[in-house]
Amino acid sequence: MKRIAIYPGSFDPVTNGHIDIVQRGTTLFDEIIVAILYNPQKESLFTLEERMHMLKESMKGIPGITFDTFGGLLVDYAHQRNAHAILRGMRAVSDFEYEFQLALMNRKLDRDIQTVFLMTGLRWIFTSSSIIKEAAQFGGDITDMVPPIVNEKLKEKFSAQSE
Ligand code: PNS
Repeated sequence: MKRIAIYPGSFDPVTNGHIDIVQRGTTLFDEIIVAILYNPQKESLFTLEERMHMLKESMKGIPGITFDTFGGLLVDYAHQRNAHAILRGMRAVSDFEYEFQLALMNRKLDRDIQTVFLMTGLRWIFTSSSIIKEAAQFGGDITDMVPPIVNEKLKEKFSAQSE
């Protein structure tokens, strides 16, 4: 049986921390589907298309991954894609409560799907999409925390907003 995992997220935008998790995840799974949540109610800085473009660009060359978007329940989507695992990265303790809730709810909804956590690489322990957006908005240097395409798009986005 092919071991397929979903790596879900908002990816608004993708960071080096996400890339690290996917890269290491490919050693555990035959296929990882990197899936962006489509949720029109959730406000995002980048459109779905922009997020997908940055994801594909920054993860190109990593073998065994595909890209998609999904709406509704994650476990339903996993089922639909024949995936038996959900891959998530865990950073500092602050992530734990939310991730625990999410994993337990997903387990309650579908016991056939396992959540697999990988510890984020130490270099990326304090890297999050929201903190990066905030720093970039005020001109902070986030060059070594995001792929070059994201750095470029963040600059474009915030210079357009300040015009
Ligand atoms: O990158 P994020 O924002 O931390 O990702 C959160 C995500 C997309 C994994 C989570 O919000 C999700 O799975 N949403 C889909 C709806 C769902 O199934 N929620 C969990 C059970 S209620």
